Amino acid sequence: MQKILVVDDAELNRELLRNILEDNYIVEVAENGKQAIQKLQELQEEAGAILLDLHMPQMDGFAVIDKMKEAGWLDSIPVLVISSEYATEIESKCFELGVSDFIHKPFDSSIVKNRVKNTMELFACKNRLEQKIEEQEETLKKQDQIIRIQAEKLREAKPFNRLMLEYQAAIMEVETRLKILYAEFAQEYNRNPFESIKSRLKSPESIFEKLKRKGFPVTLGSIRENLADVAGLRVICSFPDDIYRLADFLIKQDDFILLERKDYIKNPKCNGYRSLHLILSIPIFLSNEKTYIKAEVQFRTIAMDFWASLEHKLKYKKDEDDADEIVGQLKACADSIEELDYRMQEIRNKIDSARE
Ligand code: GTP
Ligand code: MG
Repeated sequence: MQKILVVDDAELNRELLRNILEDNYIVEVAENGKQAIQKLQELQEEAGAILLDLHMPQMDGFAVIDKMKEAGWLDSIPVLVISSEYATEIESKCFELGVSDFIHKPFDSSIVKNRVKNTMELFACKNRLEQKIEEQEETLKKQDQIIRIQAEKLREAKPFNRLMLEYQAAIMEVETRLKILYAEFAQEYNRNPFESIKSRLKSPESIFEKLKRKGFPVTLGSIRENLADVAGLRVICSFPDDIYRLADFLIKQDDFILLERKDYIKNPKCNGYRSLHLILSIPIFLSNEKTYIKAEVQFRTIAMDFWASLEHKLKYKKDEDDADEIVGQLKACADSIEELDYRMQEIRNKIDSARE
């Protein structure tokens, strides 16, 4: 049976509570705060809960709570305040201090039994959950450390750096083709085929993490084979039709090979994500060889990019209470953005035809 400590200066109350609880628990008693602290020191983790009066001589209930907080016991022993106080400020103060429940005198046997039982169960459940979370955090930390060590090894390895150089070369190849097109458009048509290009080489940490997550071996061959986004480019356009024109331009480069095309503009993801993705195989020319390497090119309008950056932030908020609501609001924004993109495109068409 679990032990419960009843702390009250009135003997009648102590006996009443003993009668109510002794069928289910071993009931220990204390007459004031000082005795309560002594008892808690003796009982240590054997104390399943404490029923605590507020007004007592020598040391009152608040002082007991303070002492328990100091000793770190409030995290392991639930405190139920028993009091004839009906002032809500007192009750809220108790909850602020970390008390688990508040039982008003005079005692009703069934209410006391149920409150004590529920509080102890809830407390145990909370502690188990906290322990699980701690264990999971520990595991994640360890995994993170392994990933960092492995990534560090990858970074130092010469063949890995050589492969990264190839990916960097692929980024430069695609960028150059796009920049040439930009220059041609500016000269010939006095307009920009796109707004900006962003590029990034995937970090060794992300490469390693993705291989692990997808169950692929951690080898250079596996990176080449299984990852398409080590070399990543993002082309930001003004209007949706620019996207398709640019994508066709890249596909038509007769030395680029189209491996995959994902049109999340015609078929948006269910969260509202829109972009056109091309996975290309790009030839690169090194001092003594020509080789092909994969690159992922994402095309978006300015508005789609604005949405995606904000949505990306949600990744770090997934566990919070309002995440579902944010998902819904973002989806609605994505739909408005689509409408806006096409309306802006229509306006541009009108301006263009007025000029002709
Ligand atoms: P990853 O494992 O994330 O690379 O996904 P995937 O290989 O299945 O390909 P997908 O085309 O779904 O996503 C490729 C990239 O597009 C991602 O790495 C992101 O940069 C971007 N992306 C895809 N879906 C979303 C999304 O829902 N939100 C945002 N913000 N970006 C996305
Ligand atoms: Mg990807």
